Amino acid sequence: MRQFIRKGEPQFEPSDLVETVRHVLRILSHEIDRERIELQVDLPSEPLTVYADRIQIEQVVVNLIDNALKHSPAGTVVRVYSSGDADHLDIEVHNAGRIAPELMTRLFDPFTKGDPSSTASRFSAGLGLYIAREIAEAHGGTIDVQSSREEGTTFRVRLPRNPRVREERESGWAQTA
Ligand SMILES: Nc1ncnc2c1ncn2[C@@H]1O[C@H](COP(=O)(O)OP(=O)(O)O)[C@@H](O)[C@H]1O
Ligand SMILES: [Mg+2]
Repeated sequence: MRQFIRKGEPQFEPSDLVETVRHVLRILSHEIDRERIELQVDLPSEPLTVYADRIQIEQVVVNLIDNALKHSPAGTVVRVYSSGDADHLDIEVHNAGRIAPELMTRLFDPFTKGDPSSTASRFSAGLGLYIAREIAEAHGGTIDVQSSREEGTTFRVRLPRNPRVREERESGWAQTA
C-alpha cells in the first residue's frame, strides 16, 4: 500500500474534512473490495471545514483506514465517521480486533510493527502511525487509540477548528525576521 511520506511544514488552507475522507475512500476502494471488509461510513452532510494541509490530512486518513483494513479479521466491519463541535473536528476509524497490549505503549514510535509472521506486517515499514501522529501534532491536534477485546480498536484524530498553530507560526516568523 502507498505509504507516501510528506515532509515539511503543513501548508495550511481551508479544507473540508468530509471531502478529504471521501477522497481517501475513493483512493482505497480497490483495497476495500480486496480485503473482504464491510465498510460503514458516517459523515455529516455539511462540510467540516478546518485550517489544515489537505494532503497531509489525507495521508493520516489513508494510514488509519489502511491499517483498519490490513490489521483486522476478514469479514468484519470497519467504520469511518467524522464529527465536529465548536472547538474540534474528529475523524474516527474503528475495526474489530484488539491491538496487543505490549504494542500499545510504542504504537506511535517509528518502526513499530505487530505480529512479524502476518502478511500485513512483512510488507510494512511500521511508520504509518508515527507519521500520522507527527502530522496531527503539526496541526496542533492529537491522535489516540482505544483498544479492547470487547470493543475492538478505535483511532481518533482530533484537529482544532481554530488555526492557532498557523497564527503562532506567523507571529514566530515576525519575531525572528
Ligand atoms: N487498526 C488497527 N487494528 C489492529 N492493529 C493495528 C491497527 N493499526 C495498527 N495496528 C498495529 O500497529 C502496528 C503499527 O502500525 P503502523 O505504524 O501503521 O505500521 P504498519 O501498518 O506499517 O505495520 C501494525 O503493524 C499493527 O500490528
Ligand atoms: Mg500502517
